[in-house]
Amino acid sequence: MIAGNWKMHMTHLEAIGLVQKVVFSLKENELDTAEVVVLPPFTALRSVQTLVTGDKLGIGYGAQDLAAADSGAYTGEVSGGMLSALGCSYVAVGHSERRALHGEDDAVVAAKVNAALRHGIVPILCVGEGLDVRRAGTHVAHCTGQLDAALEGLTAEQLTAPGDGTGIGAGPGGGLVIAYEPVWAIGTGEVATPEDAQEVCGALRARLAERFGTETAQSVRILYGGSVKAANTAGILAGADIDGALVGGASLDADEFAQICRIAA
Ligand code: G3P
Repeated sequence: MIAGNWKMHMTHLEAIGLVQKVVFSLKENELDTAEVVVLPPFTALRSVQTLVTGDKLGIGYGAQDLAAADSGAYTGEVSGGMLSALGCSYVAVGHSERRALHGEDDAVVAAKVNAALRHGIVPILCVGEGLDVRRAGTHVAHCTGQLDAALEGLTAEQLTAPGDGTGIGAGPGGGLVIAYEPVWAIGTGEVATPEDAQEVCGALRARLAERFGTETAQSVRILYGGSVKAANTAGILAGADIDGALVGGASLDADEFAQICRIAA
């Protein structure tokens, strides 16, 4: 699975151009074994939906965040129900930029994971350590701790709910995606080594197996994110527990993103 997190880039008009270029770059059979997803800003979701629905490549889409609550007096928030009505299959939750810039703590992240699941949207749960934690050598415990907190109280069934085939709600790969994004690698050009990425992704899968059983742990897709480009994709994806990538900056360049998708497939 390759997911492009566009962050706060692209007006809805620019989004149309970007998706059209990605679709133009990729041939139908090039994505046979890879699921490609884009996460545009809220304002571009409707335009992206119109473009990719029914397209031969089957590109999916989702949002970068959602509200923990389902409705009410929450000025500026967007609910899971609103995203589900727009056909979003995925939503990023707990991205390090949300944690750092918007004060989202473990409790908020857990509430948002729950909100996504309530609406049949697959959360792409982001975890990852900062440079201080990496230097202290406690990165594995830090990331498994974030995982534990975000999945508090959930059952294996909730994490493996299959999609209903309508393209609305839970995606084809089950009810949860995890993205390991070391904060020091995001937007810095400093990608984790394949060994570093595998160490944490392997630990995350092992933790899932302990809590929810091996079958569930295997069904959850674990992505790596942080300065992924076409040139380093193959090395990163070689990790036994790495099922794909969450791509930031490089997903804004249609040719580069298409090439990453090709390598993943
Ligand atoms: O969510 C993707 C992300 O945070 C990585 O960004 O620009 O380093 O690929 P980037």
